[in-house]
Order: sequence, then structure tokens, then C-alpha cells
Amino acid sequence: MTASGTCGYGMEDNQEEYSHLVGTEKLGAIVCKGTTLKPRDGNPQPRLAETASGLLNSIGLQNIGVDALIKEKTPIWAGWRVPVIVNIAGDTIDDYAQLAGKLDGVAGVSGLEVNISCPNVKAGGAEFGANPKSAAGVTAAVRAATSLPVLVKLTPNTTDIAKVAMAVAEAGADAITLINTLKGIAIDISRRKPLLGNITGGLSGPAIKPVALYMVYEVAKAVDLPIIGCGGIATASDAIEFIMAGASAVQVGTAGMVNPSAPLDVLKGIKEFMEKEGVEDIAELIGVAGRQND
Ligand SMILES: Cc1cc2nc3c(=O)[nH]c(=O)nc-3n(C[C@H](O)[C@H](O)[C@H](O)COP(=O)(O)O)c2cc1C
Repeated sequence: MTASGTCGYGMEDNQEEYSHLVGTEKLGAIVCKGTTLKPRDGNPQPRLAETASGLLNSIGLQNIGVDALIKEKTPIWAGWRVPVIVNIAGDTIDDYAQLAGKLDGVAGVSGLEVNISCPNVKAGGAEFGANPKSAAGVTAAVRAATSLPVLVKLTPNTTDIAKVAMAVAEAGADAITLINTLKGIAIDISRRKPLLGNITGGLSGPAIKPVALYMVYEVAKAVDLPIIGCGGIATASDAIEFIMAGASAVQVGTAGMVNPSAPLDVLKGIKEFMEKEGVEDIAELIGVAGRQND
């Protein structure tokens, strides 16, 4: 899958720009940009800063809002072979429930990814995901409002990710996406000020891979749900590490912003690895590294 926020709506200006670039029809799914009830302009510029092996972003959930998404984007998605999952974010539990209700039954929407992990907005977002009780509250409200598959995307910015994952599983999630970005900061030394307009941002890219992998490994031991691994995946071997740690699927984010064909290259490389190793079903590899250490 593509990771939320790194390929917009899978198209630009109603052109299938991203799919034209990389042939996204072959992917497992496209996850669209975080969607809120009302349109959002996002945070002040600058909103991106490159780091060693990573990227700091503070976009702040800039998006067109759910009503425009339903009107303008979903009819196009309905004609695609690749499923599209809508990433949703809110300031309150009721926002999440309303978003889920509006998107339920809309042609072109194959699932919801509940973002309780955005580090770049003041209210909501990561506040919900940092705590098992509030994470479960959002999950239960979304679950009650939709019959679509519900993926819950967790934040690494918490003390015990396994506890949050267990609470979310109990509250009715169908799958767990791990991880969103890690909170970070960069300073512009010539201005003697934080570089990003929002001061803090979220770190992504290869720099966070070992952290993401660790969290997948820990959560795979704690819950029975499918895990979607995300964080620094740029190559097929990165993805296979996540699968062996316990992920059933993976998302490619920042790497796709550098090389738009990265998600497809990862997919191709996984198939090549399976052929080389004589693996017939990817399920043989899921969690294999964890089981050996039990
Ligand atoms: C520019 C940018 C925008 C993002 N926007 C969202 C978003 O709207 N919703 C969300 O859940 N995650 C968002 N993310 C987080 C990614 O989906 C992903 O969880 C994170 O970047 C780690 O994966 P990566 O290292 O492969 O990029 C964003 C990341 C980046 C770099």
C-alpha cells in the first residue's frame, strides 16, 4: 500500500497522475491523505525539512474535507481496480464517528484508516493514540458507525504501544497500522529559530525503520489482528523484515516521494524473494522472526 499523505488522493486535478506514474493498479491498496470533516489549509510554511536518512514534516492535515472527497474523488476511485482506503482524522470522538458514517457505503471507498497518531495538529490526532482508553473510544465509535474494514493507525509517541494495540483490538479494529511519524524538531541556525513553521514535525523515512520494526514485533506478540507495517520501508528487503516481524502487509511512504515507483519496486522484490526462497504463500513468512524467539 501507499502510506497516507505521501501520494495525495492517488491522482492530481482529477488526472490519474500517480497511477499513471507507477501503475498503482498492481498495489494492494492506496491510502489517501488524512481527511477531516471540514477542509483544512494545514500548518504555516515551511512544512518539510530533510534530515539524515529521513524527513520531518508538519503538513498539519491539509485536505479538501470529507464532503469534497465524496463528491470529487470517490467517483473516480470507484472505477479503479486498486482499493482505496480513506485515512480519517478528527478533533473529537464524534468527528471520527461522523466521518465514518459519511463514508460508509460510498462507492470507491474500500476501508477506513483511523489516524489517531498525527503529531502535527493540536487537538485530537496523537492525543487519542497515546492512551489505550481514548484510542479504544475512537475505535469503538468508528466501528459502530461503519461496516467498512477499520484499520487503526497508531503513534510511536507513547510509552506502551502493545497496551494501546490491545485496547484498539478489543474495541473492534480489523487491523492495526504501525507506525505514524515520530515527533521531532530542526533548528535554522542562521535565524536561531525552529526551522518548521509549526516548530515541531513528524520524522519519517529510513531513520525510523528500526523503531517501526520494533513496534510491529512487540504488537504482533500482543494481538491477533493483522498488522500493516509502515516506517522507513524503501526496498523489498525492508518490507520482508516487517513481514518477518509480524506484519501481514506494508505501506511505503517517504520512499515514494523520492521515487514514485518505490511501492511497486517493493512488491516486485517481495515476489522475487519468494521465488528465490521457494516460498509459495507469504503467510509462511509472517511473524517468522518472532516465533523463533518464543
Ligand atoms: C508529507 C507526509 C504527510 C503525511 N500525512 C499523513 C496523514 O495525513 N495521515 C497519516 O495517518 N499519516 C500521514 N503521514 C505518515 C505516513 O503515512 C507514515 O506513517 C510515516 O511517514 C512513516 O512511513 P514512511 O517512513 O514510509 O514515510 C504523512 C507522512 C508524510 C511524510
